[in-house]
Amino acid sequence: MKGNYDHFMQKEIHEQPESLTTTMRGRLISGDSSKAKGVLLGGLKDHLKTIRRSRRIVFIGCGTSYNAALAARPFMEELSGVPVTMEIASDLLDREGPIYREDTVVFVSQSGETADTLQALNAIARETDCGVHINAGCEIGVASTKAYTSQIVVMTMVALALGGDTISSQARREATLDGLLDLPNKVREVLKLDDELKSLAKLLMCEQSLLVFGRGCNYATALEGALKVKEVALMHSEGILAGEMKHGPLALVDETLPIIVIATRDACFRKQQSVIQQLHARKGRLIVICSKGDASLVCAGGSCRVIEVPQVVDCLQPVINIVPLQLLAYHLTVLRGFNVDQPRNLAKSVTTQ
Ligand code: M6R
Repeated sequence: MKGNYDHFMQKEIHEQPESLTTTMRGRLISGDSSKAKGVLLGGLKDHLKTIRRSRRIVFIGCGTSYNAALAARPFMEELSGVPVTMEIASDLLDREGPIYREDTVVFVSQSGETADTLQALNAIARETDCGVHINAGCEIGVASTKAYTSQIVVMTMVALALGGDTISSQARREATLDGLLDLPNKVREVLKLDDELKSLAKLLMCEQSLLVFGRGCNYATALEGALKVKEVALMHSEGILAGEMKHGPLALVDETLPIIVIATRDACFRKQQSVIQQLHARKGRLIVICSKGDASLVCAGGSCRVIEVPQVVDCLQPVINIVPLQLLAYHLTVLRGFNVDQPRNLAKSVTTQ
């Protein structure tokens, strides 16, 4: 049921505050006052010790699920202390990549039905030892939106469960737990940018191409934002790791090609400011997603359109930052007259190879 919405994708974007709440329900252990003091993931609790002893953690997925794992990787590495590597399921299968006895392999899938992911699972073990449901509720639109944000939240909770409660990580853990509790409210706030994104979509609807630059946790946001634009709005779009800019993509920059730069506050902020300056110097047509109050900092000395989003703890910022890009992809699709919920040539579950 679409309720008051025109499309399932639109409904699913707007119900993210609720889907995130459901994803976290019963999994945050309450401490003093209204704060959470830890996470409890029933499906994982008997396996945490083994996972902590792994030589590496390997994330395997396709499309949006791969992007969600990529967004969660830095925090997973930081808290678990175990190196995390990424595998696109089809590529792992094509090259028969090695997986070792000491590895923990995490299969990330919204549907649990994707052929490549399942075949990778079959090639490694007959079935999984344990798992965590994302509990995001039913997603009808082919473009994954609320499943993506719930997957990031689940993997953040897994990282918290894996991390020991050492004194050195205590402040970090507390900030993340507080951030999780407040995340649905922050998503509610960013959804208020809907009209702003609609007007940006009007400006961009006739473009041929759109680049999205991100780095750190938000490299995943760039990939996922570009994936949404290409799959539903049928506009060429590419997510680019900003650190790679000078190794090729810079050649594309001129005064016509629209470029979205993600420059919210995190350890990569200064580097992203420098990227913006370099794009300005090439007369790039910039749209910058930044933290609230940072407009003049990110656009100093140049002209650009700015989308200000609420700042949250860095590992959860990808959940916030994807929302404007989901809204942009949605409005572009409607304005360009394409099918929002059933994009051309795509199926919700890719059950064949
Ligand atoms: O069901 P899965 O998460 O395994 O699906 C993997 C991809 O096919 C899927 O995430 C796809 O990229 C999205 N529907 C695109 O929005």
